[in-house]
Amino acid sequence: MQTPEEFEVSRRGVLVGGAASVATATLVPAGPAMAAPTPVPPPTAKVAFSVNGQAHELELDTRVSLLDALREHLHLTGTKKGCDHGQCGACTVIADGRRINSCLTLAVMHEGEKITTIEGLGTPDRMHAMQDAFVVHDGYQCGYCTPGQICSAVAVLGEIAAGVPSHVTADLTAKPKVTPAELRERMSGNICRCGAYSNIIDAIVDVAGAKT
Ligand code: FES
Ligand code: FES
Repeated sequence: MQTPEEFEVSRRGVLVGGAASVATATLVPAGPAMAAPTPVPPPTAKVAFSVNGQAHELELDTRVSLLDALREHLHLTGTKKGCDHGQCGACTVIADGRRINSCLTLAVMHEGEKITTIEGLGTPDRMHAMQDAFVVHDGYQCGYCTPGQICSAVAVLGEIAAGVPSHVTADLTAKPKVTPAELRERMSGNICRCGAYSNIIDAIVDVAGAKT
């Protein structure tokens, strides 16, 4: 156990020693400065595709998603970014007739393809039948998921017409029918946080001319 006097001495010793180390460190001449790393520009590539019937050629960072190419480079902001992780369907577009999550695919992978976004389906004056049906059946509230829902719904009717079965198609040898069960299954990748699901199904059934 140290006496207060001994403690004072040892404390003074520590302070003196510390000051000496700082002084020594200050006197050591600095070595040659480390060169700052030269920034490496991201790899880019050219990609040409058509969007809503219009040809585009872009030089893009190869990591740019199709969603960001549409929104940030072509300023087609109708396609929405919800999760950016392939989980909500808000970014759905149609590429060569197939619906895809544009956040999950790189733009440079779509060389030569025909991309259709919500802007290419119709305009406020000349709406696509599916857009019209969404309005008539009140198939949206905030509208954020709606462009993806509509692109998906258009593609779903194409899939059913082409005889593509789904997980709930009972008879794989018969042509699938437009039923609420088929539509719910096929539209399950499009999340609506406002819960407009039943009206969305009504709109799609209406466009298909199906009886439920
Ligand atoms: Fe692409 Fe959610 S933004 S799936
Ligand atoms: Fe709001 Fe679907 S209408 S998220």
